Amino acid sequence: MIWIKVDPENPDPESIKKAAEIIRSGGLVAFPTETVYGLGANAFDERAVNRIFLVKGRPSWNPLIIHISSIDMVKLVSRSAPDIFYALAEKFMPGPLTLVVESSEMVPDITTAGLRTVGVRIPGHPVALALIKESGVPIAAPSANRFGKPSPTSALHVIEDLGDSIELILDGGETKIGIESTVLDITRTPPLILRPGGVSKEEIEGVVGRVEVSPYPEMPSRHYALRADIILVDARDIGEATKDLISRTKELIGKGFKVGALAPDDIMSQISELPISVRGMGKWGEWDEMARRLFGEMRSLDKEGVDVIICVLPPSYGIGLAIRDRLIKASRGNHA
Ligand code: TXA
Ligand code: MG
Repeated sequence: MIWIKVDPENPDPESIKKAAEIIRSGGLVAFPTETVYGLGANAFDERAVNRIFLVKGRPSWNPLIIHISSIDMVKLVSRSAPDIFYALAEKFMPGPLTLVVESSEMVPDITTAGLRTVGVRIPGHPVALALIKESGVPIAAPSANRFGKPSPTSALHVIEDLGDSIELILDGGETKIGIESTVLDITRTPPLILRPGGVSKEEIEGVVGRVEVSPYPEMPSRHYALRADIILVDARDIGEATKDLISRTKELIGKGFKVGALAPDDIMSQISELPISVRGMGKWGEWDEMARRLFGEMRSLDKEGVDVIICVLPPSYGIGLAIRDRLIKASRGNHA
């Protein structure tokens, strides 16, 4: 694997050229987006896309998002993007929004997992955009983690999970949002949020009116499965969160578990006496900060070998909805 560091705002054209050549010749390139790192291949190249599934250990029924660099490129992958596509694209693209539209015959079945629809997004990251433009093809890319691990928010996470099984990684440092894009199905009315993410329900509704949120998990359990179990604390305010976190933690320590906590920065002094590993998630209310740190700190606590990770949930508006979604999936029902 070739590991190239690039300036995330202004990547060196030679590095982008090298990566684009690999994409065009059927190879796999990991690259940063504003949400998480992606594992990219030419979306039209069946063999290359097949390798994405193999390398990730991802089941073939799970479709990939196709990344494009301009709104116009949607015509390459979709037969007929509706007006609402253009309305949402004008407002949120580039950005953390994936729109599910009817696919075109050009897109191989393996990319869409045999569906007649395709998820399309324009990543809001100079490196990703430069790579797509230079490659001259739409890039199919899931998150660049092994199936079952949290999405990678740094190049090191990608290397940890995929290492030598990919050709190249463009290392643009840590990703800004830290949680994946919102996936919105606009083939139905009202549109349906299949996965909450970087663009909030409220923001989408500001453009298209009412949308629904899928009540079903995007995937069966163990999506973000770690070695450690995840236990969640759902509280109305920081006072209640502190109290619940401390009592659950003591209970778990009492049972002999090695405990890690993902906690608001504000309560550090109150839990500093507890014999646990703590990671700050930003101040209570700074949910963007929590999103940015979440996956990295989950990985880090898991590596430390804790048995249980206890985490305070944010409220279910704005990006809080996406954070809750990821944590609840990760907890596999251990929702305290
Ligand atoms: O932020 C992101 O979306 C990142 C970056 C790399 O772009 N990508 C990402 O991809 O999270 P992945 O494959 O890890 O998650 C894509 C999600 C999956 O849950 C998949 O089921 C859903 O999008 N999806 C993709 N195409 C779809 C389609 N045609 N219909 C319904 N769901 C779709
Ligand atoms: Mg993923």
